Amino acid sequence: MHQEIIDKLNTELETAEPQKILLSVFQTFNDKVGFASSFGMEDQVITAMIAEVCPQMPVFTLDTGRLFPETYDLIEKTNARYKLQIKVYFPDQIAVESMVNTLGINLFYDSVENRKHCCGVRKTLPLKRALSGLSAWVTGLRRSQSVTRTNLQVIEWDEANGLIKVNPLINWSEDEVKNYISLHKIPYNTLHDKGFPSIGCQPCTRAIGPGEDIRAGRWWWELPEQKECGLHQTKGN
Ligand code: ADX
Ligand code: SF4
Repeated sequence: MHQEIIDKLNTELETAEPQKILLSVFQTFNDKVGFASSFGMEDQVITAMIAEVCPQMPVFTLDTGRLFPETYDLIEKTNARYKLQIKVYFPDQIAVESMVNTLGINLFYDSVENRKHCCGVRKTLPLKRALSGLSAWVTGLRRSQSVTRTNLQVIEWDEANGLIKVNPLINWSEDEVKNYISLHKIPYNTLHDKGFPSIGCQPCTRAIGPGEDIRAGRWWWELPEQKECGLHQTKGN
């Protein structure tokens, strides 16, 4: 059943502008679709578009407890600019306590397994809570961001979470994102001006050097094909 809806929407929206994609999924799913924002560049573009074409679409974020101070500032700024109350989901207190007290506060540096465990507790489980009751969710994923993202579709079935996933910016380049932000004076994370093109948690994100891949600063101690945190699971990771 969901495959029929996915095929129909993909045929209609494959080459559509992101605003058209957002409006169309909002008209299809109404209050059963929400946007997950990490306040990255792509997400700021999508939030601005939502405020313009479908301001009733709920926007939420996952506060892992380990975000940069600059990201918290941007949450405030974005709410004020677009007159939103972006919903913030937190990890389960008992799960965080038990993880930290058995494996250490910075467990993620010790092994890929520990890192995935932390992402599970701080991001993937809260995401499941945020998605419960929804039929579709919107993300800021782009194909050119990573080797793990080249096969994305505008509309796809999210097997790990059991609902439809919508990626309105999949075909955009990094330059298109930056140009849109500057043209529309969209608030963005000030870390982008300090060598951070992709921003996640503070201990797991660093600035990149000239010529480095845009996600090179995320979990920089791991191999590129391991760098998904569980929010966007595909068969390969
Ligand atoms: S990650 O999986 O490596 O962390 P990335 O930072 O590239 O993901 O973000 C990709 C998309 O995942 C974002 O555009 C956003 O839709 C969603 N996302 C990532 N982190 C969060 C977060 N903390 N809260 C809400 N959505 C998020
Ligand atoms: Fe934990 Fe790092 Fe994953 Fe954030 S990115 S949830 S700190 S392992």
